[in-house]
Amino acid sequence: MYLCPKKESMLSTSHFVPKDYLNTIEKGSFEWSAPSNIALVKYWGKREHQIPANPSVSFTLKNCKTITKLSFQKIEKGTDFSFDLLFEGQPKESFRPKIQKFFERIERYLPFLKEYHFIIDTQNTFPHSSGIASSASGMAALAVNLMSLEKQLNPEMTEEYFNQKASFLARLGSGSACRSIKGEVVIWGNHQETENSSDLFGVEFANLHSNFKNYQDTILLVDKGEKQVSSTLGHDLMNGHPFAEKRFEQAHKNLSKIKSILNNGAFDEFIEIVESEALTLHAMMMTSMPYFILMKPNTLEIINKIWSFRAATQTPVCFTLDAGANVHVLYPENVREVVLQFIKNELVAYCQNGQYICDEMGVGAIQLNEF
Ligand code: DP6
Repeated sequence: MYLCPKKESMLSTSHFVPKDYLNTIEKGSFEWSAPSNIALVKYWGKREHQIPANPSVSFTLKNCKTITKLSFQKIEKGTDFSFDLLFEGQPKESFRPKIQKFFERIERYLPFLKEYHFIIDTQNTFPHSSGIASSASGMAALAVNLMSLEKQLNPEMTEEYFNQKASFLARLGSGSACRSIKGEVVIWGNHQETENSSDLFGVEFANLHSNFKNYQDTILLVDKGEKQVSSTLGHDLMNGHPFAEKRFEQAHKNLSKIKSILNNGAFDEFIEIVESEALTLHAMMMTSMPYFILMKPNTLEIINKIWSFRAATQTPVCFTLDAGANVHVLYPENVREVVLQFIKNELVAYCQNGQYICDEMGVGAIQLNEF
């Protein structure tokens, strides 16, 4: 296993175990939105307690998000968690096991959880079966809501602690969710060349070159079906994977490189790393046991079209992939019109029902309401 030397400043999980609360609160509600994110250097492989096998970095999105309202009412502390789940206003019992597991994982850090009855009401801005994972935005939105409640119990909490702990909690729900709390670009995982980086939470990358401001991500919906491989199973397949060690080493190196690229604005080098990372992610799935091919014929058609268009026009447009067949088309804001025209003319034909989603870089979770 490729491991960074332990840094003096590294925080331990005990940092997130609260001491006594100063306040009590009977009831109330909060509402937050939290976005999805798209990884440039991919997180693929994890250890116990949601510790990533390698560091990753992502662009935060703006339009693809989850909006969650958390209502809470004090109850006699019971032996189990008490919560109701709504999705778009309707009861959604199928979410219960995931939330139950999340609460079990985070109870140590939020000891008030069994003292309230919660109503968790969520909705996504992106279509339900679009193949876009809602776990990152969903877990991030729930984590910031729970932190709002903790802040009421402990009003002296700093903003830095709020964000760090929200990211820490979100990670325990879904790894990539910790990159959806704060910042346009977020790094997660110990990385020798990134000060304050941590396996426990995401940190904002602050030195973004203007070339990457408002970066565009048009998500081409190639296959909207259910995921063939759950991400948890996928990550597990990196345990004992023949190429795992080299892959983890490569991710550390690619993160070092992409950090300087994000700082100096070099598009060519950006494209090289981002596309290589996407293909490496899929190569890992194709070479695991069992093996998977998550790309579809249309995924490859789109990739080839992007390469031809880039070669012909010198437009700095590239692709990345998640653990699925959909293609994220990434490009700077100043070529938006020409790339959207290219997408409409040449790529929409490969999308299921001609569907795609226009998104761009965002800033993270946003509080909408407090009642
Ligand atoms: C391919 O965060 O969904 O999107 O921690 O098991 O919830 P869990 O996995 P998840 O994995 C995301 C993997 C990825 C790459 C990435 O976002 O870095």
